[in-house]
Amino acid sequence: MRGILLAGGSGTRLYPTTRSVSKQLLPVYDKPAVYYPLSTLMLAGIRDVLVISTERDTPLIRDLLGDGSQWGMKLSYKVQKKPEGIAQAFLIADDFIVNQKCCLILGDNLFYADSIETTLRKCMAREDGATILGYRVNQPEQFGVVEIDRDDRVVRLEEKPKTFISPWAVTGLYFYDRTVLEKAQRLKPSARGELEITDLNRMYLEEGKLNVEKLGRGVAWLDMGTPESLLSSSIFVETIERRQGLRIACLEEIALNKGFVTLNELKKTLESYPTSAYKAYLERIVNNPDMYLIQR
Ligand code: TTP
Repeated sequence: MRGILLAGGSGTRLYPTTRSVSKQLLPVYDKPAVYYPLSTLMLAGIRDVLVISTERDTPLIRDLLGDGSQWGMKLSYKVQKKPEGIAQAFLIADDFIVNQKCCLILGDNLFYADSIETTLRKCMAREDGATILGYRVNQPEQFGVVEIDRDDRVVRLEEKPKTFISPWAVTGLYFYDRTVLEKAQRLKPSARGELEITDLNRMYLEEGKLNVEKLGRGVAWLDMGTPESLLSSSIFVETIERRQGLRIACLEEIALNKGFVTLNELKKTLESYPTSAYKAYLERIVNNPDMYLIQR
């Protein structure tokens, strides 16, 4: 399965911070925001990822992430000229996803849970249809929402519903079968002029092929798109990391754990890192791998 990391957008809710830099490059505690969604793709076992961002930010993100070989991955890049909707990602990624199943993650989404790999495996295993992830939220009117019946089937999708239909927000992580490109090509821009991911998901729903996985209460799903949520995300990461002494979304550690790189390859990569707390953390791992690997 291939991965698309959509990391463009206008970032108006973070203006003026985003005047000269993408929100995906802003720090969330001790690393850039884009590390978090990339870590989720890696935990799903996805190694071939297309990163899509704006004309301005793509070179900066490429400078940060490179070709991915340091994590045993293959990263490629494409530009979205204007933020014309999340579903436009599939049109931009057409060559990359032709006849492939794919997973799309939004660049400002942070997932954290012990159980996340099990959930991701379940989503990836489906050959047919699409899978969205539902997360219970306090203010569903601020999100795309999915109504789910007693048998966990999707009944309805609604963008920012004014009246309550369900507490389940649709997160920014989606899994699609091989028909996604053909469906995306049939989308028409919405009233706000965007190719809407909700419209794409509705196409699957109409075919009876939209699945939902409910994320339980032990899962953290945060976005990093407003001043408040950016701060909450930083505080969340800092709290967990300080308590456990383990880092969230440390891409080198995940690459080692997943077998994307060997211990020797990681040691070699670290030689080029400047002296830093991040490097010191990774050095502790390479010097005591049994203590850190496969922490469950
Ligand atoms: P949003 O938060 O919906 O939009 P935004 O990033 O433009 O921010 P704001 O609403 O504050 O202006 O986007 C969700 C994610 O999807 C985010 O990571 C940016 C990305 N995105 C794109 O890359 N291209 C797009 O056309 C859209 C709509 C979003």
